[in-house]
Amino acid sequence: MSKALALVVVLFFVGFFGECYGELRVGFYKGKCGITDVEVVVKKVVETWHFTKREKDIAAALLRMQFHDCFVNGCDASILLDGNNSEKKAGPNSSVRGYELIDAIKEALEARCKGLVSCADIISMATRDAVVLSGGKWYNVETGRKDGKVSLASNVDLPSPSISVSDSIKVFGKKNISPIDMVYLLGGHTVGNTRCSLIQDRIYNFNNTGVRDPTMSNWLFSELIKKCPRVSSFDNNVPLDMKTPSFVDNSFFQEIQKGNGVLKIDQQVALDGLTKKIVGDIVKDPNFFTKFGEAMVKLGRVEVLIDGQGEVRTSCRVVNKKSFFFGFFN
Ligand code: HEM
Repeated sequence: MSKALALVVVLFFVGFFGECYGELRVGFYKGKCGITDVEVVVKKVVETWHFTKREKDIAAALLRMQFHDCFVNGCDASILLDGNNSEKKAGPNSSVRGYELIDAIKEALEARCKGLVSCADIISMATRDAVVLSGGKWYNVETGRKDGKVSLASNVDLPSPSISVSDSIKVFGKKNISPIDMVYLLGGHTVGNTRCSLIQDRIYNFNNTGVRDPTMSNWLFSELIKKCPRVSSFDNNVPLDMKTPSFVDNSFFQEIQKGNGVLKIDQQVALDGLTKKIVGDIVKDPNFFTKFGEAMVKLGRVEVLIDGQGEVRTSCRVVNKKSFFFGFFN
């Protein structure tokens, strides 16, 4: 009788507080999927997509996805949820890509270990793997996140490309990310593109002056007027790092020192007294890759759900249907 009662009590508490395990740490899934190494499964799918080019510039897609996920509601994969009014429908997320790759990884993992690996962890593992494939260096990612159940476009409040350095420091500070790590993370702009519409004012009518942003180099201006004509029926893409657009490296920081920052915020971090020295130090930093990895790990810690605060979705695009017993308490 007492054993049965104890079991009922345990089941009640498990149902009420969620699973009784979970923490964010390196190797959270080690030994939890039989002989399958979860991180290897993720890596293999990312490699396949990278080498077959099923998605262009995966590192750019995933770096941005991780940033946009973690800065809205924490790193809980809320960006992946489909819905008429979910985060992915918000303006700043309209050009986020890579969802199909995450689906493919999830499918591969579900086939091996049902309901084990959260979508939030998939984003951080896959981003790391993509960074390595694009010339970056390996960094250990922490895992053990749970997936969130809420995704609302109205929650999306991401920094605009013309945010000031001091405001950006405040925004990152609220997420426990220091100015130094913020600058390393902006180095994510070493890969990928921006749409011309987001920099048109810098090229042709900066602060309504009718001319370009004076901080822009002559070289960058001559490149941008070719790629982003004053009048065009297309919103073209321009690389954020004009010199090595597909490589994760610190050339981005060298470029912004020369006035070749494409986004206003990128250029400003090289000029503003609050961050200028940080940029100078990064350019000379022999441990750039390690520090970039460490900054990505810190990004991955933002407001995570663990210990039964969320769930492990079976499809990254939808919240699980509530189960009869446990769902009652969720
Ligand atoms: C103040 C902070 C930031 C601002 C204002 C910002 C702004 C932007 C903008 C405006 C774009 C172009 C989007 C478009 O054309 O639709 C972009 C692209 C991108 N951002 Fe950021 N960003 C910030 C921080 C970050 C961070 C922390 C990361 C990752 C560590 C990141 C990674 C990327 C990547 C990789 C792309 C290219 C995406 C692609 O080619 O698909 N950004 N960002």
